[in-house]
Amino acid sequence: MTFPARLAADAAAVQAHLTTALATKGNQPVHDAMRYALTGGKGLRGFLVLESARLHDIAPQNALSAAAAIEALHAYSLIHDDLPCMDDDDLRRGQPTVHRKWDEAVAVLAGDALQSLAFELLCDPALGPEKVRMGLVLGLAKASGAEGMVLGQALDMAAETASTPLTLDQIIALQAGKTGALIRFAAQAGAIMAQADTTALDGYAQALGLAFQIADDILDVQGDPAKAGKRLGKDEAAGKATFVSLLGLDGAKVRAAELIAQAEASLAPYGAKAATLKEAARFVIARES
Ligand code: IPE
Ligand code: IPE
Ligand code: MG
Ligand code: MG
Ligand code: MG
Repeated sequence: MTFPARLAADAAAVQAHLTTALATKGNQPVHDAMRYALTGGKGLRGFLVLESARLHDIAPQNALSAAAAIEALHAYSLIHDDLPCMDDDDLRRGQPTVHRKWDEAVAVLAGDALQSLAFELLCDPALGPEKVRMGLVLGLAKASGAEGMVLGQALDMAAETASTPLTLDQIIALQAGKTGALIRFAAQAGAIMAQADTTALDGYAQALGLAFQIADDILDVQGDPAKAGKRLGKDEAAGKATFVSLLGLDGAKVRAAELIAQAEASLAPYGAKAATLKEAARFVIARES
């Protein structure tokens, strides 16, 4: 199976799990908006959960609630990221953003409820004993909150109005929160479930997350909006320092490739079993959306 086919298969399984989880919630606009926001993504974070579970001989079906949780949390972050008070975007995954299709109140609330849903999903007994589930809840809380994704988003917003552009080190710190924290949690989830050492996967995910954000910045400059499914050219228009503005397009590509080599090297303890995660790393910098 090619890597894109593997990713799509895992994304479909996670999507089906989310559809079931939402089936009984209701049919108010907020519920429809939650379902809408959960569709159409690549599913990379959910895939990382399932693949890190496989690496530890955990059946993917027993990890589905953790994969669904991270995708729900990610969908919430995107709804809020697109709001007029943040990036003010009209298009996401090739469709109107939630506040455009409904309104801002529905978008805020759908995001809030997706965040709650993520933690509800992590309480699924299929994920393991209470100690394991507590580890997952704590991991996602830290990754998504005031020292993780939310911090990164806050630093990103602040950078838009700062009088001086951020330095490379500041951008790396910003990225570690904004994009890196959720990717780190996703890649470690299987080891957390297996109560195994998370060090190798953490090394992999730190390099992968940074490369992922460099690729996002490159796409913003030279991507095809029809393939990306979102408005591009936003970073330069907002006068934001990015990996591309600081390293140049070629420099950013070189850095991303170095990080992918580093991500692959981190997986050495897993041997041949980690082949799919290595493919995922290469996919992250070659992607067009
Ligand atoms: C987009 O994430 C937002 C960032 C964190 C840069 P993805 O590129 O993973 O978005 P989807 O889920 O595939 O739409
Ligand atoms: C979004 O980053 C990161 C999160 C939602 C946490 P961006 O603002 O760069 O993502 P896009 O470019 O809108 O997808
Ligand atoms: Mg943003
Ligand atoms: Mg944005
Ligand atoms: Mg971006």
